[in-house]
Amino acid sequence: MTHELSKPAADVFEAARTRRSIRAFKADAIPAETLREIVALGRHAPSGSNIQPWRVHVLTGATLKRVGSAIQQAFLNDEKDHKRDYNYYTEPIEEPYLARRRACGWGLYGTLGIGRGDHEKSKAYRASNYVFFDAPAGLVLTIDRTLEVGSWFDYGLFAQTLMLAARARGLHTCAEASIASYPDIVRRELGITRDWTIMCGIAMGYAQDDAVVNTFQPERIALEDYATFYD
Ligand SMILES: Cc1cc2nc3c(=O)[nH]c(=O)nc-3n(C[C@H](O)[C@H](O)[C@H](O)COP(=O)(O)O)c2cc1C
Repeated sequence: MTHELSKPAADVFEAARTRRSIRAFKADAIPAETLREIVALGRHAPSGSNIQPWRVHVLTGATLKRVGSAIQQAFLNDEKDHKRDYNYYTEPIEEPYLARRRACGWGLYGTLGIGRGDHEKSKAYRASNYVFFDAPAGLVLTIDRTLEVGSWFDYGLFAQTLMLAARARGLHTCAEASIASYPDIVRRELGITRDWTIMCGIAMGYAQDDAVVNTFQPERIALEDYATFYD
């Protein structure tokens, strides 16, 4: 019997509803053809003036292990002088976003049984981000440094297309801005020039059904709180 989490999504509504960030994966490899098919679907994403700003590095096997452990080592060794190519959040982050961010972080750590202020455990957990949560595939999304915010908008559409495509093939994902915390390491390991901004990672694989971390489902704001309908 197919377990609930692994069930492929039948349509786009189901794919969007069942997509959630999965942070523990089975060791099973993704068939190369399936991975290609998912990444190939990304080209159907729309982009302003059809610019198609995406450039994605798809890592599996030994390359994924090498790159992941290099980023994780940088994190664990508290290597200084690493700076993201861009700011993901405002500094400081203001309300109402601050409260949502806190609820997400505390919710995730609560699910894992990591208490607030338990820096050691939380650091050990955060380290798992950098090896793509041991997923069998890790994607590194890069964007031409010269492109503007409109292209970043396009890129989000591309990324979500991949994540929905993954659902249709029984796979799950976790987008990972954390992978972009050590851009020079990622560039060095993959031979990418400084012309490319390291934007984000995506872990992809088959969900571990019984992993507690995969039960975490942060709440969403209500439809009325983000949409206004007119006639
Ligand atoms: C661009 C982007 C970057 C993210 N980076 C991380 C990350 O580095 N680590 C992580 O555990 N989750 C990351 N997330 C997952 C978010 O925490 C998650 O999408 C949000 O809490 C909503 O939960 P859901 O994806 O399970 O619906 C990221 C999500 C997005 C869209």
